[in-house]
Amino acid sequence: MLHKVGHMSDIPEDDALTVDIDGRPIGVFKAAGKVFAVKNICPHKRAPLARGTVQGTMLPTSCAGQYQYGMENQVLKCPWHGWEFDLETGKCLFGVSNSRIKTYEVSIRDDEIYVDV
Ligand code: FES
Repeated sequence: MLHKVGHMSDIPEDDALTVDIDGRPIGVFKAAGKVFAVKNICPHKRAPLARGTVQGTMLPTSCAGQYQYGMENQVLKCPWHGWEFDLETGKCLFGVSNSRIKTYEVSIRDDEIYVDV
């Protein structure tokens, strides 16, 4: 079921809009030209993920001592212990955990944001 959560201008730059839909805490982010909605609870120790940062990360490489940065604006980093999650899939990155964050479909109509819960 689609729920209107606000307008595009309601999402602060470099921050998230937090909403509650039927008792579900949800963080809504603008990143990489898209809007993402995730459950606002980290699967590790229940930190509020909306207080995390959206950024890139260091990618795994096959050569020791080499570093490659990637996934810019696609990674949500938990504010408490730094676990990183793919905003598209909710998967925890790089084998830290098999946990994932709940993601929700988002649609935009006339600058209004709808989250499918
Ligand atoms: S509570 Fe999110 S990584 Fe620990």
